[in-house]
Amino acid sequence: MLNKFASFAGISGPVVTIIMDGYGIPKSDAGSAIAAARKPTLDRLFAHYPNITLRAHGTAVGMPSDDDMGNSEVGHNAIGAGQIYSQGAALVADAIASGAIWQGEAWRQVVAGAKAGCGTIHFIGLFSDGNVHSHLDHLKAMIVRAREEGIKTVRIHALLDGRDVPETSALDYVEPFEAFLAETNGGVFDAQIASGGGRMTITMDRYEANWNMVARGWRTHVLGEGDQFASAVAAVKELRVKFPGTIDQDLPPFVIVRDGKPVGTIEDGDSVVFYNFRGDRAIEITRAFEEANFDKFDRVRVPQVIYAGMLQYDGDLKLPRRFLVAPPAIQDTSGEWFSRAGITQFACSETQKFGHVTYFWNGNRSGKLAGETYQEVPSDVVPFEQRPWMKAAEIADAMIEALKSGKYRTLRCNFANGDMVGHTGNFRAATMAIEAVDLSLARILPVIDALGGVALITADHGNADEMYELDKKTKLPAQNQDGSFKAKTAHTLNPVPLILYDNATGGKLGLKQTDKAGLSNIAATTANLLGLEKHAKWDESLLVIK
Ligand code: 3PG
Ligand code: CO
Repeated sequence: MLNKFASFAGISGPVVTIIMDGYGIPKSDAGSAIAAARKPTLDRLFAHYPNITLRAHGTAVGMPSDDDMGNSEVGHNAIGAGQIYSQGAALVADAIASGAIWQGEAWRQVVAGAKAGCGTIHFIGLFSDGNVHSHLDHLKAMIVRAREEGIKTVRIHALLDGRDVPETSALDYVEPFEAFLAETNGGVFDAQIASGGGRMTITMDRYEANWNMVARGWRTHVLGEGDQFASAVAAVKELRVKFPGTIDQDLPPFVIVRDGKPVGTIEDGDSVVFYNFRGDRAIEITRAFEEANFDKFDRVRVPQVIYAGMLQYDGDLKLPRRFLVAPPAIQDTSGEWFSRAGITQFACSETQKFGHVTYFWNGNRSGKLAGETYQEVPSDVVPFEQRPWMKAAEIADAMIEALKSGKYRTLRCNFANGDMVGHTGNFRAATMAIEAVDLSLARILPVIDALGGVALITADHGNADEMYELDKKTKLPAQNQDGSFKAKTAHTLNPVPLILYDNATGGKLGLKQTDKAGLSNIAATTANLLGLEKHAKWDESLLVIK
């Protein structure tokens, strides 16, 4: 059990955690949609309430190195678990470096399955080195190994990124990759890109926000239906001309053909590896490959294949059944221990981030814990620069209702705006996104006051804090040839805020800034606010009692 906290009996009202997704603290205001936003509530919070910064990227959240930006998966894992685990990116890199991946049963079955069929392995996944969902180095290592194993044919289905990497960088990945294939091909070995498209148009939907994306992906990768091109380089170039201004993540699907025929439809007897390690955007396509009674769209033809994921994407639902590397085994999360302590918990977000405050928060565990209540607000299915307010108002409504119900001792929510709109690269929309969050805070905080509660206001990683690529030398926003700024769609390496909103104790509480303070310190801080000791495994609390 979590014992009583000796030095503080806890807040009598609710303890609320508010995640402002994609809200970092930049080194300079230049290019920051957060700095440019009108946000009177947040300004007041930073001026008058205890606040510190937390590390939200790199090794502080279990990524392989401090050059790796944070992301929502690892960020919510760290916040919810109160501990740092080596995450998918690091686990896969280690398994490849040690060679353990090749000895695993799943890889052996992928190879054996292809050899028993016509000798083809398909690799489908996000085509970049963003290290959020995937890394091209992992794909290359598997291609080289497939050749060594005597596989004859490899087909790659490339989901163009532009969301975790610069927004029109596809050719920076496709061209060197084609050169790599040219070097690797030879003898009987033939590896080629067979299909692809922007990651926000096909295959990588999440939380069932838009199954049409997955249906389009299936038609592209499996059936080979769609606009035809001679090569992936030609596809990217021609699609850019045909759809001017469209950034990589939004490019339409493409199919590569030779003599008028798709080079890599997926057929009975083939093996398929979905090489993303992160689960949220991998689950739906995995279900399309694995479920016998699949009813989300008409698959037309269901090839009998050996299917493997890079990781297992959902341990409870066992999706997929076969996976190359074991995911982190996250244990003793705050959700679990608060539940055991009889603390009632409320979690809310809109669809796009719903699994983040439930599944990721609880250490990649689906299904509610005892005493938990979840509320999902359906997201709009639109480009979010067109509706930057997203569902902030509805999430605030839900939080206010849950607070007022008096049923919950602790509540959490995620405002997706800073991140989802930040990913579009649209500066003006991103300022509105932050303003929507500010407005929502202004509505929720007085309700917390009325109930004698407190709030921890934080973020999982940065995004809207840098809307332009920064010039490596000057650190100022980089410019295109026409003088416009180069939009940045990816997350940032910046720290995030932790604000303690407390009108309940008469200024008795503060936060301590430590060198190592990071997202994994939030669970223990919340425990102390609830009047409980932290779990022995959790990183230290940052609460100061004056
Ligand atoms: C995405 O999946 O949208 C991005 O790759 C990462 O964003 P998130 O980590 O904030 O979800
Ligand atoms: Co994001």
